[in-house]
Amino acid sequence: MSASKKLFIKTYGCQMNVYDSERMAEALGEDGYETTEQMDQADMILLNTCHIREKAAEKVYSELGRLRALKDENPDLKIGVAGCVAQAEGAEIMRRQPLVDLVVGPQTYHRLPDLMAKVNAGQPALDTDFPEEDKFEHLPKRGKSGEALPKRGPTAFLTVQEGCDKFCAFCVVPYTRGAEVSRPSERIVREAQGLVDRGVREITLLGQNVNAYHGHDQGLAGLIWQLAEIDGLDRIRFTTSHPNDMDDALIEAHGTCDKLMPYLHLPVQSGSDRILKAMNRKHTAESYIRLIDRIRDARPDLLLSGDFIVGFPGETDQDFEDTMALVREVGYGQAYSFKYSPRPGTPAAEKEDVPGEIAQERLYRLQELLGEQQRAAQDSMVGRDVLVLFEKPGRLPGQLIGKSEYLHAVHVMADAADLGQIRKVRIEASAPNSLSGKLLAG
Ligand code: SAH
Ligand code: SF4
Ligand code: F3S
Repeated sequence: MSASKKLFIKTYGCQMNVYDSERMAEALGEDGYETTEQMDQADMILLNTCHIREKAAEKVYSELGRLRALKDENPDLKIGVAGCVAQAEGAEIMRRQPLVDLVVGPQTYHRLPDLMAKVNAGQPALDTDFPEEDKFEHLPKRGKSGEALPKRGPTAFLTVQEGCDKFCAFCVVPYTRGAEVSRPSERIVREAQGLVDRGVREITLLGQNVNAYHGHDQGLAGLIWQLAEIDGLDRIRFTTSHPNDMDDALIEAHGTCDKLMPYLHLPVQSGSDRILKAMNRKHTAESYIRLIDRIRDARPDLLLSGDFIVGFPGETDQDFEDTMALVREVGYGQAYSFKYSPRPGTPAAEKEDVPGEIAQERLYRLQELLGEQQRAAQDSMVGRDVLVLFEKPGRLPGQLIGKSEYLHAVHVMADAADLGQIRKVRIEASAPNSLSGKLLAG
């Protein structure tokens, strides 16, 4: 057997990239690579990139610049760029950074073995197609019966849907990930079972528009109910959803499916109908608020998360105040907010931007409000009993870190044997980004 080569993957962007990085590592494993956490030990460095905002792509180019020194030291070092910047920039990446050996878009990872053959022959390898075939079916199957894949941590991501047909005016995803495609439910159930066999107890179903999933005749709710039948799978989550795809069955499942966790990421982007229209979101602030009411009727303790963009072209002070009003009315337990970043090729990029300092000031005010709400939601957990799935050791000896049903990080003094277990915890204190508590019996 040949000595194994070391692969270092750095992942940017969303959870779908995290999932893809795992799958690429498995695919390259067949090529003799094993992953390392140390970049300077690697025979191959793969950057799995994100293109969602300006700085993301710039970060990739500066990271590539820093790799120059490593490549000078080790001329055999292979450098690859995968993900959404790879898709968007294509051959431009190799022009701008000739040290790059491989550029591969998100829909062609299953062709990595062929691409690697080219790389190993010293030829530049580039593939940014949107092929007909399903990349997941051509990657090594996870947990295929009879296969002895190693044990893994108690939580996992599982991509069920990819791409997007919504074309929000600001967003690159429909261009970098392509059209919306759902994986058939049988394959997902098989993969989920394989993960559970390897020790996974919580699965987060992923998709850019995960609730538009149509690989099951009863949509995402149908898939969730089917997965809920897997023994040993205790928790199901999904992300990211679009407000227009929250159907009745999915809302109802939040109240009736015990394994579906009380946490929902449902981005609204803006509270102004004028801006929502310009964004091509096809929902209004009012329809969003009514939807949240219905979901909370089904599951009153739901923790709601969202995404916001401030400074979208044409956003006035009043439009921004409408966003602030929506946030006050809805109340978020967690949220992401961003300053609008023009993306080449998207319709909004043609329009005139809100001046930078005005957008910055709005972002600051919004983040302050969202921060207060997040803090209040977290503080309200003190004194409550939650169920924690322990994921890893904490920084202190004898401490474990896990997640509650509401996705709060919880620090607890507990035995290492509790790793991977779900235990009842009484929350005693709330720190800026985590809770702490003590184990309860039973
Ligand atoms: N599919 C998800 C979001 C994917 S992108 C959805 O529709 O909700 C994640 C988030 O990045 C978006 O929700 C949006 O808030 C933000 N985002 C996307 N494009 C952006 C841009 N051009 N500038 C700033 N933020 C952006
Ligand atoms: Fe982007 Fe809109 Fe699609 Fe979300 S729904 S991925 S924001 S185009
Ligand atoms: Fe980024 Fe691509 Fe995800 S642009 S957010 S990595 S889909």
